[in-house]
Amino acid sequence: MTNLTRRQILLGGSAIAVAGFIPGIPRTPLTPSMKLMQSTLAADIPRPDYMIRLSANENPYGPSRVALKAINANMHLTNRYSGDPGPLIKVVADINGVSTDNMLVGTGSSEILNVAGMLASRNNGSIVCVDPTYQSLLRYAERSGAEIIRIPVNESLNADLDAMRAAVRNDTDMVYLVNPNNPIPSIIEKNAMREFVLEMSQDRLVFIDEAYHEYVDNPDYESMIGLIAEGHNNIIVSRTASKIHGLAGMRIGFGFAHPDLASRMDGVKTGETHVLAIEAAYASYQDQEFQDFAIRKNKESRKIVEDMCEELGLRYVKSNTNFTFIQTGMENKAVQEKMREYGILTGRDFPPYHTSWTRISMSKPEEMDYFVQVYKSLFA
Ligand SMILES: Cc1ncc(COP(=O)(O)O)c(C=O)c1O
Repeated sequence: MTNLTRRQILLGGSAIAVAGFIPGIPRTPLTPSMKLMQSTLAADIPRPDYMIRLSANENPYGPSRVALKAINANMHLTNRYSGDPGPLIKVVADINGVSTDNMLVGTGSSEILNVAGMLASRNNGSIVCVDPTYQSLLRYAERSGAEIIRIPVNESLNADLDAMRAAVRNDTDMVYLVNPNNPIPSIIEKNAMREFVLEMSQDRLVFIDEAYHEYVDNPDYESMIGLIAEGHNNIIVSRTASKIHGLAGMRIGFGFAHPDLASRMDGVKTGETHVLAIEAAYASYQDQEFQDFAIRKNKESRKIVEDMCEELGLRYVKSNTNFTFIQTGMENKAVQEKMREYGILTGRDFPPYHTSWTRISMSKPEEMDYFVQVYKSLFA
């Protein structure tokens, strides 16, 4: 392992940027027909010459410079089978106030989700979840024999915890919550959440997917990792380096649980974490400067889109993440198709909301300005 020194990491992007050999982030080119469509827009709209990805909740700035530097510095290790995740686990455990034996590393948090889905479907029982929500764990568990009990969000588009309580059956082996949720970027109030998780985990697993944790700036929110630190059983939390850290393509994420449960999950994983993913995450989790920058830019971008919604009188969900959910009043597919012609990729369908809602991921503020101008010229 060629570790960056702590000074290098603390110096962050500015110091490493001068290293020179780190290439820029490649951009997805426009097709010729998209270029043609773009030129039909009003002349005062700045027209990026690449696809703007408002579709997958990625970090448009990432990876951080120190993560790129770590990848470069450790390329020579890729002839070996695997890296040592020990130092990374220690860093992430310390940040979250848990012990290293509360943790496991996955090839993306998707692997943690799949492993948990596998465990929860072993008895061919049921899993209770919010609807709509993120589907990976649910899809995996369903294919492995579990029945998925989907509880629609309430009128305010929040998780209906009482309805979820009522839906739990004797055969329910897991309750799955995404907090903040996706595609609806709302949170569950912390006291209600804590009480619910403690109650539900008495007799079954409770999985809390906190992929967007780092973006939340809301006094009503609390991570459930604290319950694991307190020693509670049956609770699993996942986090990822794919979002705020901009390392989606490296595939690295984390599970947190009681040591017995963490080691049971670790024992049935099927992936091997990539040596460069370990090195990149190790550097990135210590680069607070980059994370603060990404959070600041994300807020700027969200404001641009929220201002547009206010101006046009569109309902939207106040976001705790790096995406917003907007009631356009149009079929999502139609919005998607039209936006694509102008070089903008927007969110996929999220039934049953696909008939009038669209999920918009945040990119750089200047790209969101372009999105707003295109949206207004097409639909306002
Ligand atoms: C709620 C949620 N969980 C997990 C993931 C997948 O994360 P990873 O890249 O760590 O597998 C996503 C990706 O969009 C997500 O939205």
